[in-house]
Formats: sequence, structure tokens, C-alpha cells
Amino acid sequence: MCSATNMAHSSNAAYQDNEEDRLEREHFQKVLRTFRKYKSHGIERVTKCQSDFQRLPQNHQKMLPDFIRHLGSIRTCIEHNYEFILQIVKNTDNMFENRVHGINTGFDLIVPLTSIEMDKVQTTLRQFVRDWSEDGQKERDTDYKPIIEEIMKRFPPDKCDVSKISVLVPGAGLGRLAYEIAGKGYICQGNEISLFMLFSSNFILNR
Ligand SMILES: C[S@@+](CC[C@H](N)C(=O)[O-])C[C@H]1O[C@@H](n2cnc3c(N)ncnc32)[C@H](O)[C@@H]1O
Repeated sequence: MCSATNMAHSSNAAYQDNEEDRLEREHFQKVLRTFRKYKSHGIERVTKCQSDFQRLPQNHQKMLPDFIRHLGSIRTCIEHNYEFILQIVKNTDNMFENRVHGINTGFDLIVPLTSIEMDKVQTTLRQFVRDWSEDGQKERDTDYKPIIEEIMKRFPPDKCDVSKISVLVPGAGLGRLAYEIAGKGYICQGNEISLFMLFSSNFILNR
């Protein structure tokens, strides 16, 4: 039998669960929406920059003869990046086994986007260059190689069964370090709190 206190307690816990779910869903949708707004936000900024430039006196504009062409190439880059972003956000609704976040709460329409969130999309794109492109190899050699070498020194593959050694990469970002460690045969798990990173690492590692 349930006492009144127990019932009040469990309905309070249920309320908290629902509230946490709602906040989590809203955050999930906010991150998705930020990714999706990348193109319009970027093009808007370039267009403003162009019109500001064109308002300058002619002699000032002549000091930067390539500026308009440069803005054109930025536009092209934004469009290419956006194609990539569309792949990242595709099929993310069922990304987590224990949650479905695709339910639309209408949140999208009410809360304005901040430039802090858009900066996170840009940081994520830059991180892709470092973690997953050829251009990033030099930086990966500086950042990740010493960590991998240290693991291999402490748990040498010729002296121990590395498939029984578990390594945690805290704050794993786009997952490149965890991927490299797993590639050496160790058991490796990364954790990551940011959905910007989690959507992106899911795209690059699992799809
Ligand atoms: C400085 S970045 C490093 C990312 C990655 N290791 C790299 O080298 O590119 C730190 C990362 O830790 C994540 N992070 C911060 N606090 C965290 C927490 N409490 N749990 C899991 N991840 C966290 C951040 O979202 C961010 O991606």
C-alpha cells in the first residue's frame, strides 16, 4: 500500500524526471536548430559585410581590390560547410538508445539564437579540420602522439594483452584520440558532454 508521503514523493520525482526530459529535449532541438541556421546566419553576415564595404568611399574601397571576391569565396565555403552540416544532423533523432528527441516542442519558434551557440558550430567545424583532415595531421602529432606513446610505454603491446586494458578519454570531442587508441588494440571509451560534439562524432565514427 502507498502512503500519502510516498505518493507525494514519487509524483515529485516523476515531475522532476519530466522536467529534466523536457529540458534535455529542448537543448537537443536548440543544438540541431543552431546547426541548421549556420548557412542563413553566415550568408547574412557576409551580405552585411559587403554592404558596409560598398558604403565606403571609392578611394577606400580601392585599397582592398580583392575584398568582394574574397567575400564570394567565403560564401562558397559557407555553402560547402552547410552540405557537411546537413550530413551531421541527418537522422539524429534516434541517436541515443534511451531517448527519442525528435518530438517537436515548438521551442524552435520561441527562443532566439545567440552568437555564442553559432560560435560552437564554428568551433566544431574547425575541430573537424584538426581531428579528421590531412591538414590537421601536424597538430594531431603534437597533441595526441605523446598521449598514445605514454599509454604504449606503460602498457606495451609486446608485454601485455592490450585488449584487456581499458582507456578512458574524458571530454573526447570529435573522438580522434579515442579512435587512435582503439586502433592500437586497447579498449577505449570517450565521454563527451556537448551535443555539438556528440552529433559530429556520431557522424564521423558511426556513419
Ligand atoms: C578542450 S576540449 C578537448 C576536446 C578533445 N579532447 C580534443 O583534444 O579535441 C574539452 C572537451 O571536454 C568536453 N567536456 C567538458 N566538460 C565535460 C564533462 N563534464 N563531461 C564530458 N565532457 C566534458 C567539452 O565539451 C570539450 O569537447
